[in-house]
Amino acid sequence: MSTQGTRGGGNRFPGVVAAPFAMVKLGPDVESGTTDAYSGYLPDGRIFGFSMMHESGTGGAPKYGVVSQMPVVGDVQNPIANLSQLRAVPDEGGVGYYKSSLASGVTVHLAATEHAGLYSYSFPSNSSASIVVDVSHVLPSFRGLGWEQHYSGGSFSTFDDGHYEGSGIYNNGWNLSPDWTIYFCGKFNQQPSNSWTFNGNGTAFISHDSPSSTSGIARLGGVFTFAGTDLTSRVGVSFISSAKACHNLDAEITEDTELDILVENAKSQWNEQVFDKIQITSDNSTDVQLLYSSLYGMFLIPSNRTGENPEWSGTEPYYDDVFTLWDTHRCHSSLFHIVQPEAYEEFIRSLIDIWRHDGFMPDARSSNFNGRVQGGSNADNVLADAYVKGVRGAINWEDGFAAMQTDAEVVPANNFDPKAPDSSTKEGRGALPDWLQYGYITPRFSRAVSRAVEYSTNDFGLHQVAMGLGMADEANIYLNRSRNWRNHWNPLASSHNHTGFVVPRAANGSFIAQDPQQCGGCYWGDAYYEDNSWIYSMNAIHDVAELKKRIGGDERFVDRLNKLFDLNIFNAGNEPGFTSPFLYNFVSGEQWRSVNRSRYIGGLYGAGETGLPGNSDAGAMESNLLWQMIGLYPLTGQTTFLILSPWFESMTINLGDGKTLQVTTTGGDRYAAPYVQSLKVNGEDWDKAWVTWEDVFANGGTMEYVLGENQVHWATGDLPPSPAS
Ligand SMILES: *[C@@H]1O[C@H](CO)[C@@H](O)[C@H](O)[C@H]1NC(C)=O
Ligand SMILES: *[C@@H]1O[C@H](CO)[C@@H](O)[C@H](O)[C@H]1NC(C)=O
Ligand SMILES: *[C@@H]1O[C@H](CO)[C@@H](O)[C@H](O)[C@H]1NC(C)=O
Ligand SMILES: *[C@@H]1O[C@H](CO)[C@@H](O)[C@H](O)[C@H]1NC(C)=O
Ligand SMILES: *[C@@H]1O[C@H](CO)[C@@H](O)[C@H](O)[C@H]1NC(C)=O
Ligand SMILES: *[C@@H]1O[C@H](CO)[C@@H](O)[C@H](O)[C@H]1NC(C)=O
Ligand SMILES: *[C@@H]1O[C@H](CO)[C@@H](O)[C@H](O)[C@H]1NC(C)=O
Ligand SMILES: *[C@@H]1O[C@H](CO)[C@@H](O)[C@H](O)[C@H]1NC(C)=O
Ligand SMILES: *[C@@H]1O[C@H](CO)[C@@H](O)[C@H](O)[C@H]1NC(C)=O
Repeated sequence: MSTQGTRGGGNRFPGVVAAPFAMVKLGPDVESGTTDAYSGYLPDGRIFGFSMMHESGTGGAPKYGVVSQMPVVGDVQNPIANLSQLRAVPDEGGVGYYKSSLASGVTVHLAATEHAGLYSYSFPSNSSASIVVDVSHVLPSFRGLGWEQHYSGGSFSTFDDGHYEGSGIYNNGWNLSPDWTIYFCGKFNQQPSNSWTFNGNGTAFISHDSPSSTSGIARLGGVFTFAGTDLTSRVGVSFISSAKACHNLDAEITEDTELDILVENAKSQWNEQVFDKIQITSDNSTDVQLLYSSLYGMFLIPSNRTGENPEWSGTEPYYDDVFTLWDTHRCHSSLFHIVQPEAYEEFIRSLIDIWRHDGFMPDARSSNFNGRVQGGSNADNVLADAYVKGVRGAINWEDGFAAMQTDAEVVPANNFDPKAPDSSTKEGRGALPDWLQYGYITPRFSRAVSRAVEYSTNDFGLHQVAMGLGMADEANIYLNRSRNWRNHWNPLASSHNHTGFVVPRAANGSFIAQDPQQCGGCYWGDAYYEDNSWIYSMNAIHDVAELKKRIGGDERFVDRLNKLFDLNIFNAGNEPGFTSPFLYNFVSGEQWRSVNRSRYIGGLYGAGETGLPGNSDAGAMESNLLWQMIGLYPLTGQTTFLILSPWFESMTINLGDGKTLQVTTTGGDRYAAPYVQSLKVNGEDWDKAWVTWEDVFANGGTMEYVLGENQVHWATGDLPPSPAS
């Protein structure tokens, strides 16, 4: 379950995450010399430590890989020499558990809690056993884009009783963060026969016998040598102080805690909080594995750092490692809401609280620092989605709207990102000056067209929340602005017998010639980010009726959607295209085509190590598959769910408070007979290709499908809403 998507670009973290969103993510750090280990793990390469902090599923550049231990056979002369080891056999892992066997003969078993980790070592019997704690240890990056992390100093102390404490300071990474500090506290189950601290970059480092204390900007840490072959170490971490790290450790892993108990605790936490929420009747073990592996991958990050925020104190929850809302707002947010409603409310509160203290909500954030923004300010979409689905609890929605309005009205300070020096990539909407002045974005801003399409959906989010709060004027202004994607629409731009695409536009109003299938590098400095105009032209999902009209009506719209596939433009591994395959539901009778695409996309996933068609992206990829299994697709910021075709004869989603959504199918075969023949929603015959939150989630509900091989034009009722059209 924990190995899905860990190879072949999924970049998912296979190590120990003891509970959904646990702060500690304990696992191996591997160097291959050529490939970046985004989560620390690579199947091949050399292990150079086991560390407590990782992210899961990310691209860009590795982050964290800090607070490590490295087991070494024998005495250690030079702790900053290359101590890396190949594996003797492949690693093994499961929920709450990880094991590596090193070529040196050392076996390491790992388990953890939310703020602490347990390392259980067995060393060869014919030698002494050493543990090196290198504070400068951090995941490197070989990609060379200026996104590598740097160690920038630390402190390390050993004590008479054999334990150690200290802190490490690091900076940079994909989000270009300034220095941040993590504290640690490590204890062993036996007294070392020898221990010392080191400080220095070369071989002539300064060393001190224990107890001692050292600090500075050079590489530093400690070496602990033991006589025995079996050794356990427990380590606590904190962003506040080393005293808090010791407190976290002793509160969560006591001296006599057995590794097996931690593993069992982790399994029950995951079962209760996540896996038990969705039940299926299927004896196909591949399907069962795929369902639960995907659910697992959704809840590894963000990290719940409530009580561990070094930047400000207060009573609001605090979540970090948001990576990124650009990826997750399409279909992760809405499933996060359904499966983990309490954490979801805390997460929303945390986004708003980050705005209170840092000035802007994040689109991405890690090491307590906002950054980096790829397109729009997509926290706006996430907040709108929560608002329209009735998420209230302890959320202060006046502040929520004020935070969204900051995105919509306040130009964030330029952080002069070398990749895109035109405007902020840290937070907010860097291209806002043009958006406000022209209602579109001129080429003086990079990613102008893709940002404009996203700003439109962001402004639609503001419209939704303003409506709910009774702010009619604001609601009108932002509805109007949500239509600004149209200002990039060149009705004459053509590609493959289609005309009308979103294109770059100059300040004087003229469109700039651009082949809609080309986007240069599709990267930071280009007009479109990570996809081309064929995809971005379809992404104003709050304005589809208008889009259809501009494309030339139903038939042309269907043809254009078909061409996304026929021309190999659609990429299931990249988020900007996630929604397009299901827009057939906006054409009367054509819902079956969305089912066909859904089955294609579902078929690209597997439960195995290469089972994700792209980076997990904090579970965005997994959540897309889960929606295919459920047979619905969410339109973020609206209460609409497009109807697809469920995978299973029966699925029950526990919605809390005794409510459930029950989805059943009869007559289906996953690939040979996937099409909807008829559907009853809450017992009533259904002729619409969509349902709302109120229909099936707010109070629970039933969806009973009859499936078959015929491409039945059953959904001929009202089309899904296009609220901006
Ligand atoms: C460490 O040594 C191994 C084996 O010689 C080598 O493959 C690897 O590249 C070295 N790592 C570093 C960071 O120098
Ligand atoms: C210790 O034992 C291992 C096998 O467990 C062997 O590979 C290694 O060479 C031995 N080392 C020494 C120093 O005898
Ligand atoms: C050690 O290396 C770091 C960079 O890794 C450098 O900033 C620092 O000045 C060096 N310190 C010494 C004492 O050489
Ligand atoms: C089980 O499901 C997988 C897809 O998840 C499918 O490839 C396989 O054929 C199914 N096995 C059986 C026996 O139906
Ligand atoms: C987040 O962490 C805090 C502090 O540990 C805890 O009180 C809270 O219950 C956690 N939230 C969830 C949803 O588990
Ligand atoms: C909507 O935008 C148009 C121009 O695009 C403008 O003329 C009109 O005043 C705007 N309406 C509101 C309510 O802002
Ligand atoms: C091109 O599009 C037109 C409608 O705009 C359609 O009538 C024609 O059949 C299309 N041609 C091809 C080769 O697809
Ligand atoms: C508008 O601006 C573009 C880009 O600056 C320029 O190439 C074009 O000639 C201008 N068109 C007119 C009509 O001034
Ligand atoms: C989609 O439909 C096409 C044409 O009917 C068919 O060849 C293909 O197998 C279908 N794809 C899936 C995944 O069902």
